[in-house]
Amino acid sequence: MLNPIETIDKLSQEHTATGAELLALLTCEDPFINEALRQKAQAQAQKTFGNKIYLRGLIEFSNFCKNDCLYCGIRRSNKNASRYRLIPAEILECCATGYELGLRTFVLQGGEDFAYDDKRLAEVVALIKKQHPDCAVTLSAGERSPEVYQMWFEAGADRYLLRHETANSNHYEKLHPAELKLATRLECLQNLKSLGYQVGTGFMVGSPFQKLENLVEDLHFLKKFNPHMVGIGPFIPHKDTPFGECEAGSAKLTLKLLSIIRLLLPQALIPATTALNTLLSNGHQQGILAGANVIMPNLSPQNVRDKYNLYDNKKHSGSEAAEGIALLRKQLAELGYEIAISRGDYPGVIR
Ligand code: 5AD
Repeated sequence: MLNPIETIDKLSQEHTATGAELLALLTCEDPFINEALRQKAQAQAQKTFGNKIYLRGLIEFSNFCKNDCLYCGIRRSNKNASRYRLIPAEILECCATGYELGLRTFVLQGGEDFAYDDKRLAEVVALIKKQHPDCAVTLSAGERSPEVYQMWFEAGADRYLLRHETANSNHYEKLHPAELKLATRLECLQNLKSLGYQVGTGFMVGSPFQKLENLVEDLHFLKKFNPHMVGIGPFIPHKDTPFGECEAGSAKLTLKLLSIIRLLLPQALIPATTALNTLLSNGHQQGILAGANVIMPNLSPQNVRDKYNLYDNKKHSGSEAAEGIALLRKQLAELGYEIAISRGDYPGVIR
């Protein structure tokens, strides 16, 4: 059953597809079929979440990183990166600003910064939860031991983001230095789930050496792991990395994958990412129309936003968070959507 229309029906009704079916759908260039996929995905998102879009305030708390991922602008060997680390009081201030604007989830994202020691981050999480007991805290701070994940969970962290980047171990090795292994990452993801976190994973679209077959592997991994959140975005080169001359991933393919993921995982929280919005002028809107239901406005202080550069030309409105959210509200209203003032937890059973 390789007819893409039949695959779309199967995805909508049974939320599965075989590798061959997914590959045929991914290679299909027929605009009518691709539009049918988009419509089904948007309808599924609306069935699960209505016309509500959840916001997550992103706080990029440190761009120090001990890792040397070949694609990433904050890799340790990038000597041109201007490094910074927010102190707890600055992080709390970002949360207070976000809270005023109606945000009820704060995402603390940083490189694997050893100086931001594990206890300190636990204290920050506890402080945020104390000041904002009605908010969720999401951490995105890389690979850690089960003990550290547990300490952060006990401090009050609700969710954790750790993209698998690619589900193919050979491909993983082409994107990372030898000390980083896909198996370790998958183990971390499993540990996070076992501890009771809502877990997000995901991958880059069009990363160097990626084949369409790898994307099928990514989709099958997602289906099997069944994460609560899935973040995907196009690869975008950063000039000071070994992949600086590589081509960016395709925004169109990213949108198509968003739709497929929405149908595979109907309850997942799926953001229209900054990377997608960097490649497309109306990327947030297009992401929502393709089945995404989350947007992550940047709450980091203005003076550090230019420094958290995972890739070149990262888009940020340049405006204050308040202005950015007002604009977002308008853009979403044009499409018939509203911003929800709520934590926006996973609607299914958390396991
Ligand atoms: N282009 C796009 N996404 C990137 N990320 C890191 N570097 C890049 C890049 N050059 C993504 C990775 C990581 C997330 C925080 O950002 O997928 O998990």
